[in-house]
Amino acid sequence: MSEYHTPVLLEESIDGLNLQPDGIYVDVTYGGGGHSRRILERLQGGKLVAFDQDEDALQNLIDDERLIFVNHNFKFLKNFLRYHDISKVDGILADLGVSSHDFDQPDRGFSFRFDGKLDMRMNQSAEKDAVKVINEYDATKLGEIFREYGEIQNWRNLSQTIEQARSSERITSIQQFLKAIARCVPARVEKKYLAQVFQALRIEVNNEMDALEKFLESTLELLNPGGRLVVISYHSLEDRMVKNFMRSGRIDGKSEQDFFGHYHLPLEVITRKVIVPDEFETARNPRARSARLRIAKKTA
Ligand SMILES: C[S@@+](CC[C@H](N)C(=O)[O-])C[C@H]1O[C@@H](n2cnc3c(N)ncnc32)[C@H](O)[C@@H]1O
Repeated sequence: MSEYHTPVLLEESIDGLNLQPDGIYVDVTYGGGGHSRRILERLQGGKLVAFDQDEDALQNLIDDERLIFVNHNFKFLKNFLRYHDISKVDGILADLGVSSHDFDQPDRGFSFRFDGKLDMRMNQSAEKDAVKVINEYDATKLGEIFREYGEIQNWRNLSQTIEQARSSERITSIQQFLKAIARCVPARVEKKYLAQVFQALRIEVNNEMDALEKFLESTLELLNPGGRLVVISYHSLEDRMVKNFMRSGRIDGKSEQDFFGHYHLPLEVITRKVIVPDEFETARNPRARSARLRIAKKTA
């Protein structure tokens, strides 16, 4: 059986957490547990809380009494920590996106390499899947998703083509969808284009930008002074949000000023320059190619 997920930027992100053996840490994207395992190896007396909304991640659970696993969306980070009597932590890691396991399962619907249901839900009990988005959103809303989340140039043509195709029959499978949009796909950049289309749909199905926003905002209250926020992102929308947030402490990137004009910066950026995988890592794991790592420290 192939590996569930090869951890990306493992050493760099774990170093970024500046682990204290007796500290409390959170890995909000457990996946195959690659990062969590490394954190646990370095803890002595400390504790790790891990989140993953995908129930498939449960099959990778590390048997360790220092680990608390939460099978929920990380946008509820604060509530679940409170439930476990934790009000402050020393470091939070997020390795965003979908696991390789999910990409490689035809029936999860994340990849245009296969046929299967147009699903794309990370949380398999969520109500909204890609079938719903493709068949029930109006063309204007679809267009916005393709433009904003996929940065697709012919978003108008694409959304109108979908609207036309679904008027004769409901689009439910990956291959049916690919056939319906074939005339919008530019030759020569077919794979890149389809990756953007699938990315846009996936972001919408899983409300990814909203979850990231809520998660980032909650970290300010949860981190101890000196505590680390470590985020690996995989597309420019996420990376921009993370960068703005780390620089300003706000999602919109506008720092707060007090009455005297002093800026209030709740985070100190450690990675002046974004960290990316080296050639060795991308040769071994091509999926790491788009990874961007940013690290910040909570100020006092
Ligand atoms: C890139 S993988 C993480 C891989 C992991 N670091 C490892 O080394 O195995 C991202 C994981 O985060 C989960 N995930 C993504 N968004 C989430 C969210 N909003 N709440 C909870 N889990 C989420 C996905 O289900 C997936 O398993």
